Amino acid sequence: MDRPSVQRQIEAWYNAALPRLRESSTADALELARSKFLARNTGWRAQILADFAQLDRDSKKELGGYLNQVKDDLEELYERKKAELGTTRAAWIPPADRTMPARHLWRGSTHPVTRVIDEIADIFCELGFTIALGPQVETEWYNFGALNFPPDHPAMDMHDTLYVRDDVLLRTHTSPVQIRTLQRFPPPIRILAPGDVFRRDFFDASHAPMFAQIEGLCVDEGISFVDLKAMLSNFARRFFGAARTRFRPSYFPFTEPSAEMDVECQLCKGVGCGVCKGTGWTEILGSGMVHPSVLEAAGVDSERYTGWAFGMGPARIAMQRYDIPDIRLLYDSDIRFLEQVAE
Ligand code: DAH
Repeated sequence: MDRPSVQRQIEAWYNAALPRLRESSTADALELARSKFLARNTGWRAQILADFAQLDRDSKKELGGYLNQVKDDLEELYERKKAELGTTRAAWIPPADRTMPARHLWRGSTHPVTRVIDEIADIFCELGFTIALGPQVETEWYNFGALNFPPDHPAMDMHDTLYVRDDVLLRTHTSPVQIRTLQRFPPPIRILAPGDVFRRDFFDASHAPMFAQIEGLCVDEGISFVDLKAMLSNFARRFFGAARTRFRPSYFPFTEPSAEMDVECQLCKGVGCGVCKGTGWTEILGSGMVHPSVLEAAGVDSERYTGWAFGMGPARIAMQRYDIPDIRLLYDSDIRFLEQVAE
């Protein structure tokens, strides 16, 4: 690279750039010319600077002033044109209407029942549980038979259960997920199965034909009622804080022995109110030691393994927590209601 050839390049640059900048009649055309002739990293200017950098010291000294002059001239021309075109452009672009109301910013939030499910899942996942899911349409065997329901159990009646076909139905609880999990995975098992269930109930203040449940299952060697009590008490402490809890004997075909767990009514703090029907307690879950015939139905050796399980209704827990008097509010999707409980 020698001095005369760089000088010729600078002249050519000037001669090409000058008319293009001068004759640009729109802001876009001007910008195009700028990127071709004046951009620092690409195009003519960059090339010339690169070549200039290769010259020897004396040539740089002689040519430096000229190069700067040309660059300043072109840049000045560009700035002048920009100011000129900027004003003509503003004249024909309609100005923004500053009186127009701003767009409403909708902030979404999770449904109270979803939030309760998420929080419960977080607690159990910390305790080593994994989330498991099952189908909402089940066979009679998964929903009842494998869970040790006797063939004449009233839950299997058309009046209580929504049948799709003869022995196919909308699951009435999440307990069939216990069977599906035990069939697929060998113990040790610790799962939490949230999901929607369906029953032929009237839609009133405390019943809905579709609602959420959370099933829990733990199966391993040497699992006893002590594990059930410890886990569920630990959960209640984490979820409800200092509130007292109690276990009551109960009955489910798929557990033996069975227990229901109550927590001190959150609304009256155990004194007794309309929501807890004056008892001071609310039932939050059913639980028990998995019945040996359930383990056997799922192909698990009940001589070797034992387990405990529970099922709870997150809607009821949400109603307690957010002081919701009517379960139907949870289904209305009324934003005025949801905004009150949004966090
Ligand atoms: N499936 C029962 C129901 O829908 C709830 C339940 C009770 C589930 C006890 C369990 C359990 O796993 O051990 O009412």
